[in-house]
Amino acid sequence: MRKWGVFFIFFALACGKEMNDESSMIPDPHSYANSGQCVVTHLDWRATVDFTTKQISATATWTIHRKEGNEVVLDAKSLKIDSIFLDNGKPAVFSLEGDDPILGQALRIRLEPETKTISIRYRTTPGAEALQWLMPEQTAGRQHPFLFTQSQAILARTWIPCQDSPGVRFTYTAEVTVPSNLLALMSASNPIEKNESGIYTFEMKQPVPSYLLALTVGDIAFRPVSDRSGVYAEPVTLEAAAWEFADLEKMIAAAEELYGPYLWERYDVIVLPPSFPFGGMENPRLTFVTPTLLAGDRSLTSVIAHELAHSWSGNLVTNKTWNDFWLNEGFTVYFETRIMEKLYGREHSEMLAVLNLHDLETDMREISSGPHPDDTKLKLDLQGRNPDDAATDVAYNKGYFLLRTLEEKYGREKFDAFLRDYFSTYAFSVMDTETFIDVFKTYYREHFNINVEDALFTSWIYSRGLPADFTPPSSDRFAKVEDAARNALEGQDITAATKGWTTQEWLHFLNMLPDTLTQAQLQTLDRLGRFTESGNAEIFSAWSLIAVRNNYSPIREPLRRFLINTGRRKFLTPIYTELAKTPEGRAFAEEVYRAARPNYHFVSTSTIDKVLSFDPPGL
Ligand code: BES
Ligand code: ZN
Repeated sequence: MRKWGVFFIFFALACGKEMNDESSMIPDPHSYANSGQCVVTHLDWRATVDFTTKQISATATWTIHRKEGNEVVLDAKSLKIDSIFLDNGKPAVFSLEGDDPILGQALRIRLEPETKTISIRYRTTPGAEALQWLMPEQTAGRQHPFLFTQSQAILARTWIPCQDSPGVRFTYTAEVTVPSNLLALMSASNPIEKNESGIYTFEMKQPVPSYLLALTVGDIAFRPVSDRSGVYAEPVTLEAAAWEFADLEKMIAAAEELYGPYLWERYDVIVLPPSFPFGGMENPRLTFVTPTLLAGDRSLTSVIAHELAHSWSGNLVTNKTWNDFWLNEGFTVYFETRIMEKLYGREHSEMLAVLNLHDLETDMREISSGPHPDDTKLKLDLQGRNPDDAATDVAYNKGYFLLRTLEEKYGREKFDAFLRDYFSTYAFSVMDTETFIDVFKTYYREHFNINVEDALFTSWIYSRGLPADFTPPSSDRFAKVEDAARNALEGQDITAATKGWTTQEWLHFLNMLPDTLTQAQLQTLDRLGRFTESGNAEIFSAWSLIAVRNNYSPIREPLRRFLINTGRRKFLTPIYTELAKTPEGRAFAEEVYRAARPNYHFVSTSTIDKVLSFDPPGL
């Protein structure tokens, strides 16, 4: 197995490079990079992280591969460029052009005929949207400051000048200097303990796109789970984290059994402080996750299966531009669900599928009545828009249901064979929607003599909403939950029926409740499920929406604490949106947001500022 793995990497790297050259001819609406003429292939990054000035000072040395022309164009946003040198040490002629609020600036660097590398000396600024600098009080341990990055989708350019397009891959090495009592980790080979010098070196041998560049610095400790996986966290969180994610190795093994060898050597997870804006982020070799996964009962670990699955869908086969985002996320939700099925059974994974459908329908209703109803198509057109705005449940769950439909229509065995070949053939390269359709149709014709009709793709990919002939998933256990919900609303005591319910059953129960409830009903429900005091962030946030909508006052103080302590956008957005619907709710939301905003990452504040029409303070 090992030997094959190594062989496979070489093979894949060779192919990937070729694919890259071709694909970079197609322009990316979210990057200024001229990768069709000159593409970067390797980054050597030397950086110093200064917590007192909240600044990274660095030199980024890019190796370039020139096909034509005499300049390389990189993306940069809010960076202070001090100087740029060519490989012969000669200062380069460069310009920073434009200042687009979404894309930032084009950094144009003039090349000489023999130029192989360019070294950019620069500093980050307080406007660096990828970076969140946390004060000690904002961490679990409350003793040390913390820093983490979030590069996806187009924020890498705010901390490293780069060709910030998913179609451009490069290897990297790094040397990062941090205060000597802190540990630094990247999306690369990582240390497992602090050293006296505070200098850490990193290597990422497999080529990655810029959105997978990641760095985190803090008082971080490590605990192994298996010989190729483990958990990083602040020391006070480490034990809980290692317990919650004890099935890490089983998940990797299940994923490999499904779709081929794990090609990134190690798979580790770091639990970040609560302000991390996502559930998880698939930074290669080191998934970043929110501490809200630490429910204490391992009930929210499908997020780990999801980020692990990205090691194939996304990190090996990468969406060509953000218009093809569903190729990253839809495939990953499908893969995640298959891992969960393998580990915990079909009954469990079908509950996850039904919950996904509920989220999708809720999101689609909202998108359909908003300014961009075409965002309910899988193929997006994000020209002139921030790709982050269209990172909705459509890519995730409509994408998932398309793949599930392909599986069910022609059989699982065929679909699995296709996916295994798909991941190995296109490893370390990019994919767009049109190529995927072509690849799928060709594979089914050549291997199975099946003609897949275009109508299927037209209705799923290029049309709004869900196709009329879509078959929704169903779950027997959820059918019982629906009965219980009906009985509860009729005033029956359903305590006995809820015995042994999992988090997923409670979530479905909450989803089944009508929009309007009386105070008496809310009290009875709360006594039954103890939602207001729930430490499970999924359950608490779902309940708080119901509570806010129905003006249930006991939610107020727990909700205030939750909003101040949690920075995960998926929870914040619907809650602030619901609060903003009434004058009293809005007043409460604004008061809480003023206190909470400093705890949130840019990704979350940029969304919530809009929800509350909040004027951000000037820098
Ligand atoms: N890659 C995404 C996070 C992301 C998407 C960051 C778009 C920036 C732009 C990650 O894999 C993800 O999907 N996270 C989900 C969890 C998942 C189980 C649906 C999340 O954060 O909720
Ligand atoms: Zn994802």
